[in-house]
Amino acid sequence: MDGVLEALRAAADPTRLRILGLLEFGELTVSELVSILSQSQPRVSRHLKILVDAGLLDRFREGSWVFHRLSLGEKGARARALVALIPPDDPLRGHDAERLKDIQNQRARAAEDYFAKYAPEWDRLRQLDVDEEAVAAAVRDMLPLTKQQKLLDLGTGTGRMLQVLGPDVGEALGLDSSHEMLSVARSNVTQWGLDNCQLRQADILALPLVYGTFDAVVLHQVLHFLDRPWTAIGEAAHALAPGGRLLIVDLGPHDVEELRENHAHRRLGFADEEIQDWLEAQGLKVETIKHLPGTLGVSIWLARRIGVTAFENEHHRMTLGASQ
Ligand SMILES: C[S@@+](CC[C@H](N)C(=O)[O-])C[C@H]1O[C@@H](n2cnc3c(N)ncnc32)[C@H](O)[C@@H]1O
Repeated sequence: MDGVLEALRAAADPTRLRILGLLEFGELTVSELVSILSQSQPRVSRHLKILVDAGLLDRFREGSWVFHRLSLGEKGARARALVALIPPDDPLRGHDAERLKDIQNQRARAAEDYFAKYAPEWDRLRQLDVDEEAVAAAVRDMLPLTKQQKLLDLGTGTGRMLQVLGPDVGEALGLDSSHEMLSVARSNVTQWGLDNCQLRQADILALPLVYGTFDAVVLHQVLHFLDRPWTAIGEAAHALAPGGRLLIVDLGPHDVEELRENHAHRRLGFADEEIQDWLEAQGLKVETIKHLPGTLGVSIWLARRIGVTAFENEHHRMTLGASQ
């Protein structure tokens, strides 16, 4: 009972309830919250501290940015239960959701501009901080494929993963939102003689695919650009056939703030635990993790779809609800 009272006391303020409501959509920086709530930074920080002290929020620093998110476990569940009590048509909740969408759209546009600008140079840029051949060898080793299998490359960019894994599979599909990146990928794929590989423009946070059809899905150096990396993992999980494998290649935790300022990175790499939590929440079992040293360390996580994904669970629940 004490825990419930502590949560109620901490949330008993309009701004703090709005903050909980906003963080239900995902992790946000202090300056994003300041901008959405139109309140001074010291004020917002004071509210955040109360919520963190009560265990409703987790706070983590990455370089010069401080993120907050709803905590996991029992205390986070209390925060979610409180947010669920806010009527969906509450005007302030509507206002906050719209402001958040604006901020996310602005960031997505900045990242799109970045990729449009650097598409012709991407094959060269990718090699600057990372030993590409070592990554390719590890990827092939961790994800053996056959000509009977279908591969999906999410955020394919200029098609690097199609080059590395395309020759091993029957069919491969590369998706990307950037028209400019896809143009380079198309000419690369032709040059590599990979006529089993197709490219399509799509948002990997809302896949337009029939679910459960791919034997392997790859997310290579994509997650650190995203606001909601866990959503991309969820979409990847839905795209996998039962028993299919998801391979994520991304940077390990680092403090090269410049990548955020000049290269559209949102997150400064990922710790194993964070990726593992997101994978497990989607019904994927982590099978292997590999760390490759370098100027920026690269981590590779391989997970298998073992059961129903979170999406299928939800869908099943809704279907049951509808038939009652
Ligand atoms: C750093 S590049 C990596 C490309 C490629 N996987 C590689 O390793 O060379 C990230 C790619 O993700 C794409 N991307 C970012 N957000 C996306 C989204 N929501 N939907 C589809 N593609 C996205 C970008 O357009 C960009 O081509």
